[in-house]
Amino acid sequence: MDRRVIIFDHPLIQHKLSILRDKDTGTKGFRELVSEITMLIMYEATRYLPMEDIDVETPIATAHCKCISGKRLAFVPVLRAGLGMVEGALTLVPAAKVGHIGLYRNEETLEPVEYYCKLPHDISNRDVFVLDPMLATGGSAIAAIDLIKRRNPRTVKFLCIICAPEGLEALKKAHPDVDIFCAGMDSHLNENGYIVPGLGDAGDRIFGTK
Ligand code: PRP
Ligand code: URA
Repeated sequence: MDRRVIIFDHPLIQHKLSILRDKDTGTKGFRELVSEITMLIMYEATRYLPMEDIDVETPIATAHCKCISGKRLAFVPVLRAGLGMVEGALTLVPAAKVGHIGLYRNEETLEPVEYYCKLPHDISNRDVFVLDPMLATGGSAIAAIDLIKRRNPRTVKFLCIICAPEGLEALKKAHPDVDIFCAGMDSHLNENGYIVPGLGDAGDRIFGTK
């Protein structure tokens, strides 16, 4: 199957994204919306997961069913803001393992700086879903996926809430095998590397640090 790049146009996602962007949406509402939007994106991102056969005894007979093996999945949020997407992802796949990659953007160069990396030891047997609400220049997503690919995962997918065209193109070019799922795409980056109109600083809004 060709690599998938999905920018969602579903009414539920667009509606929630509009409230998320609003500067008057507070920390509690912001966190809840990030979780809800993550669930909606994850629903689509998990569409082609390999299934296993399972027999289930109903009160009437044996049903030949399918199930997803939680052992196959790993969620990797990019700290800090990606943490806001973990709860929503785990609500859908509670058995997934969770790794963490710490990156921040140098405010002058906009280059990502790595400060933490802890991934599941068996990540080479897993399908990895990288979580980060913002894809701006693409530097953080590319660096996070570089780190993950060094451990030879089965597949890598990238989930975000808002992307800029610049970041999307950079990520597609750097990692042509990675499926990308974005709740919405905005117009451009400003001179400080922020997505316009965007939603501001996702980490600060999730953690209430500004
Ligand atoms: C934000 C965001 C991404 C990155 C996107 O993190 O969560 O990781 O910026 O920008 P890029 O595509 O240009 O790399 P930030 O560096 O602000 O760190 P934080 O989550 O700790 O606030
Ligand atoms: N990081 C954010 O949190 N917001 C942006 O607009 C760009 C990068």
